Amino acid sequence: MSTFRTLDHVEVKGKRVLVRVDLNVPVDHGVVTDATRIERMAPAITEIAAKGGKVILLSHFGRPKGRDAKNSLKPVAAEVARIIKRPVKFVDDCIGEVAERAVAAMKPGDIVCLENTRFHPGEEKNDPAFVASLAKLGDIWVNDAFSAAHRAHASTEGLGHLLPAYAGRTLQAELEAFEKVLDKPQRPLAAIVGGAKISTKLDLLGHLLQKVDVLIIGGAMANTFLLAQGRKVGKSLVEKDLTATASKIMNDANAVKREIVLPVDAVVAEKLEAQVPTRVVDIDKVGEHDMILDIGPRSVEYVVSVLARSKTLVWNGPFGAFEIEPFDTGTVEIAEAAAELTQAGKLVSVAGGGDTVAALNVAGVTERFTYVSTAGGAFLEWLEGKPLPGVEVLRQK
Ligand code: 3PG
Ligand code: MG
Repeated sequence: MSTFRTLDHVEVKGKRVLVRVDLNVPVDHGVVTDATRIERMAPAITEIAAKGGKVILLSHFGRPKGRDAKNSLKPVAAEVARIIKRPVKFVDDCIGEVAERAVAAMKPGDIVCLENTRFHPGEEKNDPAFVASLAKLGDIWVNDAFSAAHRAHASTEGLGHLLPAYAGRTLQAELEAFEKVLDKPQRPLAAIVGGAKISTKLDLLGHLLQKVDVLIIGGAMANTFLLAQGRKVGKSLVEKDLTATASKIMNDANAVKREIVLPVDAVVAEKLEAQVPTRVVDIDKVGEHDMILDIGPRSVEYVVSVLARSKTLVWNGPFGAFEIEPFDTGTVEIAEAAAELTQAGKLVSVAGGGDTVAALNVAGVTERFTYVSTAGGAFLEWLEGKPLPGVEVLRQK
């Protein structure tokens, strides 16, 4: 962390602090349905306000094409106020006269939330004139939106070139957790990569193979590897055109002596529905009408034994079709084992990615992992080894 300036390196008292947060949270009919991201950013907001800074929240919401009421941050700002237990004044635009007047009226410790930055095309274009209009509103810029750091937009990156830039507390915690995992891990280091498709995770698999000791593959993605090994996968979800790619990944792993773990048994059913009849079969015994929907008990046992001999775990993607019971069983049992090892001080466990967070919440283990990131795309790009513009701009030159 030494290369980043944080809130420990700045006197915020009396300053106008532009805080880039990620308020892109799920909202249904004006109600925030998952406030995890807001809960995570609360400490940085409260800290700056308590120190007498003027907190000016900036965020995008959704992917609007211009201004539209559906993508207003207004209901989200109300939820922020509820969670941090302080008034948050909502301002109808993020630049121009309305915003300037609102900021000029602020007193130390006040909090305002400006309207969706993506209502202006200059946000995504990182347009210098738009960046300058934002910069006018603040004395310093704090980036606390790791989950948007893969975007080189005006509020996530551009501002870092015009104003003194600092990492917020959430982003700082996120980077510290990640450092323990891929930069300076205690070995053995295991990775769990799950989810439906190899095609979306090729770069990630390639990068992880360079770093990890064991690569555990779960989800429908594993089916493509099984097919590449010449096994039958019945009616399971599979990417037939990617079996050559899967073979290459297995050969590459072999060449660098990395272990790839695939299921040895599976829970199968004839369709993906709640309460359908299921069977546990050996991985060589998948029938032509079967769909592989979860890993079986012997696979769970083996994966748990791998975690027990590992010191670090990075996890992205669920094992089975976890949204539908009972196909969440494999993911839940492995998550439980990882949480126990973490609590016993035997494992550093870091997880992230949209589906992963949902799956770990189902398992009820989020609080017992070392760190669970709420980032989706940004977490994936970090796992791919790509520099994130919103993080790079914070590095001290
Ligand atoms: C996210 O929810 O993943 C981030 O807020 C980024 O949103 P985006 O994919 O619309 O840029
Ligand atoms: Mg996204």
